[in-house]
Amino acid sequence: MKNIYKNSRQNLNKAKKFLKNHNLIAVPTETVYGLAGNAYSNISVRKIYKLKKRPKRNPLIIHYYNLRRLKKDAFINKNFLKLYKKFSPGPLTYILKKRKNSKISLIANSGLKTIAIRFPKNEIIRNLLKNLEFPLAIPSANISSALSPVSSSDVLDEFSSKIKFILDGGTSKIGLESTVINLYGKTQILRPGSININQIGKVLKKKLSFLKKTNKISSPGLLKKHYSPGIPIKLNCKKADNKAAFIVFGKKYKNNNKNIFNLSKRGNLEEAARNLYKTLRKIKNLGFKKINIVRIPNNKIGIAINDRLRKAAY
Ligand code: TXA
Ligand code: MG
Repeated sequence: MKNIYKNSRQNLNKAKKFLKNHNLIAVPTETVYGLAGNAYSNISVRKIYKLKKRPKRNPLIIHYYNLRRLKKDAFINKNFLKLYKKFSPGPLTYILKKRKNSKISLIANSGLKTIAIRFPKNEIIRNLLKNLEFPLAIPSANISSALSPVSSSDVLDEFSSKIKFILDGGTSKIGLESTVINLYGKTQILRPGSININQIGKVLKKKLSFLKKTNKISSPGLLKKHYSPGIPIKLNCKKADNKAAFIVFGKKYKNNNKNIFNLSKRGNLEEAARNLYKTLRKIKNLGFKKINIVRIPNNKIGIAINDRLRKAAY
């Protein structure tokens, strides 16, 4: 398909060239697909904000290959090291203090004192990061406040031909964005994800909390409206309204109707997470005008699913 490239050595070299020339590409990660640009380049970072129509005050996550490379740009601390050992590479993003002499574009972190850091696990993006002389700023590859993409065709659905190079890596394994944890100042979860608050609390030997609603944007992923398919969503429904797409979870629902979409017939929350954005996108593209959804259990990755649904419904 147009602008979609398979993972091969030749195509990785092409991808490298795009990035070195301050152009953007779409890349697979284990969470969702991202829009990648050179994090040291103002030109690249400006292009990211423009293409996504993202407010400039919403900072980007900087993706690294390893710790050695990160140390040039951020101060690390004890809690970071504990979590890094356990969870990286993987779907966890750390907020750390930025070094004054860091080469990270000032636009990439909205001029804040801190930067968000992630070491992705997907082998394709890791291979790319390993072979570049700069880290990558990679927000999810969607128009600001819309649904995140979990496949290369989702990226096309968001941007059509505006992205010239999409590196294909199949379907994202997790399907929801990384957990974001603040490690500079109060240790707190800013965005729930597949690595849950209890797992992190265990490693840090500490009871953690989620950031409560504030006016200040310490993590604009916490903006009220986000992850939206662009049609009204009603949560915690027992049954569906007339003509609504009905999203369900578990074996008690039969797919005896074209309006029913089951996130996981076997009632598995990880499977539901993987299917969430795909299902919302499908429903939108089928032309439904509203969505009803049953209650999703609020534990483990279910906490992240409910976080996204609340924002999608706002
Ligand atoms: O799984 C992911 O994290 C994906 C993949 C592509 O890596 N990326 C992603 O990026 O979700 P994005 O830009 O869609 O979300 C980044 C989140 C936002 O909520 C942003 O506000 C927060 O990270 N963030 C970035 N820098 C921050 C900072 N210095 N302090 C607090 N929050 C920050
Ligand atoms: Mg996003």
